[in-house]
Amino acid sequence: MSASRSESRVGVWLIGARGSVATTAVAGCAAVTAGLHPPTGMVTETPPFTGSGLPALPSLVFGGHDTLDCPLPKRAEALAAGGVLPPGLPSAISAELAAADREIRPGGPLPGDTRDAERLITAFATDIQDFVRRHGLARAVVVNLASTEPAPTGGALPPSSLYAAAALRAGCPYVNFTPSTGLHHPALAPLTEASALPYAGRDGKTGQTLLRSVLGPMFAQRALTVRAWSGTNLLGGGDGAALADPAAAAAKNAGKERVLADTLGTTPEGEVHIDDVPSLGDWKTAWDHIAFDGFLGTRMILQTTWQGCDSALAAPLVLDLARLTARAHETGLSGPLGALGFYFKDPVGDGPSGLAEQYEELIRFARSLRAPGPGDEGADARQVAREDRALGPAGPGDGTGEPR
Ligand SMILES: NC(=O)c1ccc[n+]([C@@H]2O[C@H](COP(=O)([O-])OP(=O)(O)OC[C@H]3O[C@@H](n4cnc5c(N)ncnc54)[C@H](O)[C@@H]3O)[C@@H](O)[C@H]2O)c1
Repeated sequence: MSASRSESRVGVWLIGARGSVATTAVAGCAAVTAGLHPPTGMVTETPPFTGSGLPALPSLVFGGHDTLDCPLPKRAEALAAGGVLPPGLPSAISAELAAADREIRPGGPLPGDTRDAERLITAFATDIQDFVRRHGLARAVVVNLASTEPAPTGGALPPSSLYAAAALRAGCPYVNFTPSTGLHHPALAPLTEASALPYAGRDGKTGQTLLRSVLGPMFAQRALTVRAWSGTNLLGGGDGAALADPAAAAAKNAGKERVLADTLGTTPEGEVHIDDVPSLGDWKTAWDHIAFDGFLGTRMILQTTWQGCDSALAAPLVLDLARLTARAHETGLSGPLGALGFYFKDPVGDGPSGLAEQYEELIRFARSLRAPGPGDEGADARQVAREDRALGPAGPGDGTGEPR
C-alpha cells in the first residue's frame, strides 16, 4: 500500500450504527488498529490482498444512522457483558467508540414522522455529505446493517431503500449486508444506473449459508443426489427479535435457499426455520439435516451443527466489504460488484454460488484493484506468484492492509 493512499481517510457510514454488528465492527477496527487483537476473520488482511490499495484500517472513520439513541460505549459494554467483545475492550478503545458515537445521526422514519420519502432521502443524504465534508474524507461507503425488514408489498419505498437512495444522492458506494430491499426496489433502478456508483449485496453469508455454499458443490461434484435439505436456526439478540416476524424471516430464508438451487441445480425438499431464543443473545445454533442418495440408491444422512457468535462472524466481513468497495470506487468501478459474491447469501450479478469459485473470483478482483507505481515493473508478477503459493492457509496481517 502506498504511503499517500494510506494517509487519505475513508468514511464508513453504517445504517443501524448502534446495532450488534455495527458496534462490533467499530470496536474491532479500533482493537486491531491499536494492536490489541489480530485481524482474525478479516479476509482482506491475508496475503492475496497485499498491494490492492485497500484503505488501511487506521484510515477508516465511522458514522451512521440509527433510530435508537443508546450511546455506542454503552452498547459495547453490553456486548462485552454478553461475551461478544473481549472483557475490557470497551474501556481500552473508549475514545474511538465516543468518536463514532458523535457521528451517529437519528435515523427514520420514527413513529409519528410526517416527512415524505423525498424529505427523508434529502435529510439522510445531507447527514452523509456533512460527515464527508467535516472529516475531509476521500470518500465514504454506506453499509446497511439495520434490522431486517419484511419485503415491501406496495409501491412505497421501505426504509432500507430510502437510505440506499440517500447513499447514491450523496455520491457514495453502497453495501447491503442485510436481506432488506435496499437498492433492489424497481423505483430506484434509474437512479442506480445514472449514479455510476459501485454497489454490493445482499445479506452477509456468515454461518449456515456459508456451510451450504461449501457442501452444495461437494454433493454435486460427487454426483450424489440430495433429496432433502432442512435447516433450523436458534438465535437471540436484536436480529433474533426482528426475524421473529415471519415476513422478515421469509426475506432472510429466500437467500439461504437460493444457494442450494444454484449449487445443486435442483431445489431439494425441505425448509429453513428461524426461532427467536432471546437468552442466546448473539449466539446462533444452526442445524442442517441433509438426506441424500448414494450408489444404487443407498440412503444416507449428513447432519451439521454450527454454533457461532453472529456479530463476531459478521463484523470482519463488514470491514472487508467497506475497504473493497471504497477501493472499487477509487479505481472508477461502477454498478454491481459481482466479484464480492463470496460475502453474500444472495449476491448481485451472475457470479458462481460455490464458495471455492467465489473465493477465486474475489482474489482475481483483488488483483485487478492494484495500481503499480513507477518502477514497480515485475513487482506485480512477483506478488501474484507469492499469492498463488499463499492461496492455501493465509496468515493474519496487522490492520495496515499489509500481511505480517
Ligand atoms: N450477524 C450476522 O451474522 C448477520 C449475517 C447476515 C446479515 N445480518 C444482518 O445484519 C443486520 C444487523 O444485525 P444485528 O445483529 O446487528 O441486529 P441489531 O438488532 O443488533 O441491530 C440493528 C440496528 O438497526 C437499527 N435500526 C432499525 N431500524 C432502523 C432504521 N429505520 N434506521 C436506522 N437504524 C435502524 C436498530 O435500532 C438496531 O440498532 C440484520 O439485518 C441482520 O439480518 C447479520
